[in-house]
Amino acid sequence: MIELRDVHKRLGDRQILDGLDLVVPEGLNYVLMGRSGTGKSVTLKHVIGILTPDRGEVVVDGIDVPHLDRKGLASLRRRMGYLFQNGALINWLTVAQNVALPLRENRRMREDEIADRVHQTLRMVGMDHAADQYPASISGGMKLRTGLARALVTEPDYVLYDEPNAGLDPIMSEQIHRLIAEVRDRLGVTGLIVTHSRACAFDTGDRIGVLDNGRIVAEGTIDEMRDSSVPLVRSFLSGGAD
Ligand SMILES: Nc1ncnc2c1ncn2[C@@H]1O[C@H](COP(=O)(O)OP(=O)(O)OP(=O)(O)O)[C@@H](O)[C@H]1O
Ligand SMILES: [Mg+2]
Repeated sequence: MIELRDVHKRLGDRQILDGLDLVVPEGLNYVLMGRSGTGKSVTLKHVIGILTPDRGEVVVDGIDVPHLDRKGLASLRRRMGYLFQNGALINWLTVAQNVALPLRENRRMREDEIADRVHQTLRMVGMDHAADQYPASISGGMKLRTGLARALVTEPDYVLYDEPNAGLDPIMSEQIHRLIAEVRDRLGVTGLIVTHSRACAFDTGDRIGVLDNGRIVAEGTIDEMRDSSVPLVRSFLSGGAD
């Protein structure tokens, strides 16, 4: 379980998080929505210990994240995959080499074990045919799937997804959404998904929270949120374009 309790964070001269309370229950996908610049990525960075709160608590499986030492953080990050926007691949490494990175950073695995694990993970996201290609020669959807493979290769308990369908057409988006739902259903991974996309929220999510002015202003199951009368929730979830 991921828990943020009364988290406050000031960056520059702005109070970005201002009493944020957020609970991601085990085994579910929690979708975090909110306007651009409201602090969604900042929230994810707190969960993985890149940022620490000025006040409040960040707890993952009972572990006090902001107070972890380097070793503790490394071990937390092995259990937590992070899918960056647009995959954030390294251009001079192949798809397979990109996916292997977290295994090389964190573990002492043999080369053949690394290769096996990488190919198994690439197969899962439908990318094993492109293992030896470079990021410059693959599509946006393939980059995201590669980023997803890199997030999954350590067999994490949690995955944080930052705008997993940004820049993708609806068909590719749907494939990514299906994969994210599968990761939960087949691997039992708990997910925290940041998105602006209604389709992404409905296809992948179990619960939705809306962030505004530094805190969650509305939260509930998909069905509860679909019927919400809160204007900000409606603007994200009802009608119109995706
Ligand atoms: N390291 C930092 N130093 C100073 N300000 C920062 C830092 N990181 C983020 N910010 C600011 O905090 C605010 C929230 O940023 P964040 O990236 O979390 O927004 P977001 O909700 O993810 O937006 P988007 O939907 O556009 O990705 C922004 O105003 C951003 O400029
Ligand atoms: Mg962001």
